[in-house]
Amino acid sequence: MTNDFKIQHHFPLQGLNSFGLIASAASYLQVDSLAALQAVRADPRLASLPRLILGGGSNIVLTGDVPGLVLKMAIKGIAIVGEDSEAVHVRAGAGEGWHAFVQWTLAHGLQGLENLSLIPGTVGAAPIQNIGAYGAEVKDCLLSLTAFDFDTGETFVLSREECRFAYRDSVFKHEWRDRAVILDVTFACPKRWQANLAYAELAQHLQAQGRTKPTASEVAQAVIAIRTRKLPDPAQIGNAGSFFKNPVVPRAQRDALLATHPALVSYAQHDGTFKLGAGWMIDQCGWKGRQLGPAGVYDKQALVLVNRGGATGADIVKLAQAIQADVSARFGVALEPEPLFI
Ligand code: EPU
Repeated sequence: MTNDFKIQHHFPLQGLNSFGLIASAASYLQVDSLAALQAVRADPRLASLPRLILGGGSNIVLTGDVPGLVLKMAIKGIAIVGEDSEAVHVRAGAGEGWHAFVQWTLAHGLQGLENLSLIPGTVGAAPIQNIGAYGAEVKDCLLSLTAFDFDTGETFVLSREECRFAYRDSVFKHEWRDRAVILDVTFACPKRWQANLAYAELAQHLQAQGRTKPTASEVAQAVIAIRTRKLPDPAQIGNAGSFFKNPVVPRAQRDALLATHPALVSYAQHDGTFKLGAGWMIDQCGWKGRQLGPAGVYDKQALVLVNRGGATGADIVKLAQAIQADVSARFGVALEPEPLFI
């Protein structure tokens, strides 16, 4: 079996994580089908190894070599699978690149995913942390997904509600962690579409171009332009996007902070809490553009940590801790990392 499925040993992972950190996998398998996962589960030697499911590697910090089995999700395929009066349903394999998938939907006249253009990573990873940007989250259009349960060997379907999505969160970070492997995701692209211009910077960008009624493709172009201006391309500079979540605090805490820091960036949430701009706080602490060894803070967006060349996971962790200490001392707020530490 192992020969059929080409298990590789001491497999280099530097090209498979967007931080470009040097590490290797003791064992590695590219997963092109459900059958490959079933075969791993059926092989007692492989099934007993600790597993790391890898998508685009754009939300992880490899702190050392990975001792177990890395399963690189490569299940492909995009197809329109149905529709109802409200929406067209489109399904993509977990191994499809997220941005390429968004572009596919736009090229096929489908709308709803445009605000999430250019986010690195794969379709299968998108629901795990409910990726979001420019006023949209993947949950907004997600209809259902299929996953493989390593414990039972069965596949199962979860609806959007069952995924219990929240800000950068879902059941896949909790009870299904280390157990479920997402195989494909189905999206409902609305037929009656309206541009989502809730994010001020996006609305301003389009307005400046005279696009008062932009098409989905025009919104995508605007998002791409803004992202390119602010966020480093992982192919050029190693990074994992936002390194910290924007902390969510009660109104009283936000009001107290506002009294001492009138320029504080904060956004009201539906439940009366406030999201604080972590990038702004890090910036205020003087970290923007600074370096600590080979790890640094991006000079155009303080929420993004970068590998300036040859950084290890330990260098990234050291920098992250120094930032957390400064933000905590100055604002009394604990920053929680967004990527997973492996
Ligand atoms: N700001 C600063 N200095 C900085 C960075 C930000 O002052 O160095 C202030 C600015 O006032 C800016 C505000 O903070 O207007 C918000 O910044 P930005 O629009 O760049 O968004 P963000 O809150 O820093 C979040 C997401 C990003 C997403 C953008 C756009 C999180 C953790 N991050 O960043 O997501 O692209 O909004 O929607 O929620 C990611 O998760 O990897 C990611 C890139």
